[in-house]
Amino acid sequence: MRKLKVVNIVGARPNLMKMAPIAWEMKNSDSIDSILLHTGQHYDKVLSDVFFQQLDIPTPDYNLGVGSGSHSYQTAQIMIRLEKLLVELHPSIVLVVGDVNSTMAGALVAAKLNIPLAHIEAGLRSFDQTMPEEINRKVTDAIAQFLFVTEDSGIKNLQLEGVRTFLNEGKPIERISPAVLEEFLNLYNNSLSTPIVAFVGNVMIDTMLAVKEKAEREAQIDVPDYDYGLVTLHRPSNVDNPDVLTRIMTALEEICESLPLIFPIHPRTRQRIEKSEFKIRQTKLKLIEPLGYLEFLKLMSHAKLVLTDSGGIQEETTILDVPCLTLRENTERPITLTRGTNFLVGSNPKKIMDVVNSVLNGQIKKGIRPELWDGRAAGRIVKILEQILHS
Ligand code: UD1
Repeated sequence: MRKLKVVNIVGARPNLMKMAPIAWEMKNSDSIDSILLHTGQHYDKVLSDVFFQQLDIPTPDYNLGVGSGSHSYQTAQIMIRLEKLLVELHPSIVLVVGDVNSTMAGALVAAKLNIPLAHIEAGLRSFDQTMPEEINRKVTDAIAQFLFVTEDSGIKNLQLEGVRTFLNEGKPIERISPAVLEEFLNLYNNSLSTPIVAFVGNVMIDTMLAVKEKAEREAQIDVPDYDYGLVTLHRPSNVDNPDVLTRIMTALEEICESLPLIFPIHPRTRQRIEKSEFKIRQTKLKLIEPLGYLEFLKLMSHAKLVLTDSGGIQEETTILDVPCLTLRENTERPITLTRGTNFLVGSNPKKIMDVVNSVLNGQIKKGIRPELWDGRAAGRIVKILEQILHS
């Protein structure tokens, strides 16, 4: 049997924990020959290399070395460099994850070369197009042939956008039944214009469940012997606007009066704070370098609460049953509100404090595991790709 050549693309930190279980599955597949390509969007050791080591992701076969720049510059550089390589490699399929600039750039190049494209974490929508990630999600979903979905809002959003072919009618899927496969192949007819949607679960949760015990044992960090909260902050809408940044930092200092906070700080946020007029006064607000995956997971698992503007952390805290206060006005991951431990608190200090106080007083939401967030999403994805691409 001829092996399928799959090019897997990563670029930024949140791609790495999503690609890890796909890389593990593909390594064990007899029918797939996988190639890993890093765009170089994230290049700092702490944002990239550490995750490869800790998550046992193979060293990338190629690194495009694009580095930082404006969104258009970064996207364009990835496209120019990637096109040459994909023409040479001529893969059966390109696979992208998440919603960063590398995701969309990789998707566009594959689509322009008529190479089938798979998007993992499809269908999520914040309905806020000022978010660069929302643009990346919409563009990528519009041109992909395989849309792998993590939660049922993804199915509904894609339906509203006119997508018609839902494997298993949008219900959770383990593998494709022969009848569904035949129907799909009749529709597919190589025009690349019929996308196929499968609700498969959450690859990032696969990774978290796989390494949680290892994190407890091996993470190079001690959990404090007192109650603490954990903070992450990096969205342009929060850190690029000095007023919003000041409001959030003021709220963080106030929280420290009752709960010390640990804040592993993203390089762009550190730059913005240093440039701003805000001066940190609270010694209980502890700024530290970005952490490795294992270290962050260990601290998050034991935290009293987490304050974040990240997408993935809303999902991870849901499974860990740790209260999550999301410093945004919207979320593309609504299941974390309805079934998880997530509260949307925006950047208003009063609202943030009210929710912090109620959580500290024991008013917490109990996390219920969303459907198929069971550690086996990557296995389902790889099986589906094998079934379709070999037919
Ligand atoms: C990117 C993603 C965002 C994701 C985040 C996680 C997009 C649009 N954004 O945002 O969705 O949540 O990663 O970390 O793709 N920088 C460094 N070292 C690096 C990389 C960046 O210092 O290795 C600094 C540079 O000053 C750079 C800035 O961070 O200009 C922004 O980097 P960029 O990759 O453009 O976006 P992120 O904010 O990291």
